[in-house]
Amino acid sequence: MSAILIDGKKVAEDIRAELRLRIERLKNKGITPNLTVILVGEDPASQVYVSMKKKACEALELFSETIRLPAQTTQEELVEHIERLNQDPSVHGILVQMPLPSHINSNQIIEVIHPRKDVDGFHPINVGRLVAGTPSFLPCTPAGVIELLTRYGYTPDGKHVVIVGRSNIVGKPLANLLIQKTPAGNATVTVCHTHTKNLSDLTRQADILIAAAGRPRTITGDMVKKGVVVIDVGVNRVDDPTQKRGYHLEGDVDFASVSEKAAAITPVPGGVGPMTIVMLMKNTVQAAEEQSGLI
Ligand code: GUN
Repeated sequence: MSAILIDGKKVAEDIRAELRLRIERLKNKGITPNLTVILVGEDPASQVYVSMKKKACEALELFSETIRLPAQTTQEELVEHIERLNQDPSVHGILVQMPLPSHINSNQIIEVIHPRKDVDGFHPINVGRLVAGTPSFLPCTPAGVIELLTRYGYTPDGKHVVIVGRSNIVGKPLANLLIQKTPAGNATVTVCHTHTKNLSDLTRQADILIAAAGRPRTITGDMVKKGVVVIDVGVNRVDDPTQKRGYHLEGDVDFASVSEKAAAITPVPGGVGPMTIVMLMKNTVQAAEEQSGLI
């Protein structure tokens, strides 16, 4: 393998060091940033993500509470919890872990979260601001991807970035960030999805390829050009009886074949994952600064 490994753990640590200074400044004013997470039901992956978010808060000495609700919680009950947190001045950030059980309307729930506490950046007001080029909270995974690219010197400016996946959490907001007239934007962007014809004709044109399809081996070595920079957003559980837990994690990219041709590539785990979490910490600190009048 000749590709440079893009180390998300290392970049996340650099960002944590920057955040510690801002947290110190808040603490000197008697403010501890508070992220409150709501988890509905017992989805195993969601439980892991929520506990990672809590640990990340603890590592930075942020206050974090997890509200665990049963899977049969009603829409109205969930709304009541969020409205209470909206009113509570000690809570700076509110995150409702997705996916929610199917009887709950997620879009409606997102709209209940106060936009100034929406540290996921999912509220339509925050999505609209992002599209308009006046962002407040940047969605965590897209912001993390852009930090990885820019901190490694792979600025998207003028590049053809091909995104595979059009989710509200990754593909759509990332495309919007990358086309902004900003130093970390100015890219030409193609968004591919399940109805795209001749996917590999498009992926082969990518200077920067971002895989966010949610399916292992969506991108293989024959689908990329030599020298491409590859960001793998996928986190897929693949059954594996040789592992004690019964599965291992794989990205959306076939690492072995793609890393033979890429100039740089993120590993899974240790690439985008740590970045998503640290960007959530950054948004929580920003929320605390805004709500305490510090910025
Ligand atoms: N589920 C998967 N990714 C995310 C995320 O970034 N935020 C929330 N709230 N739920 C998720």
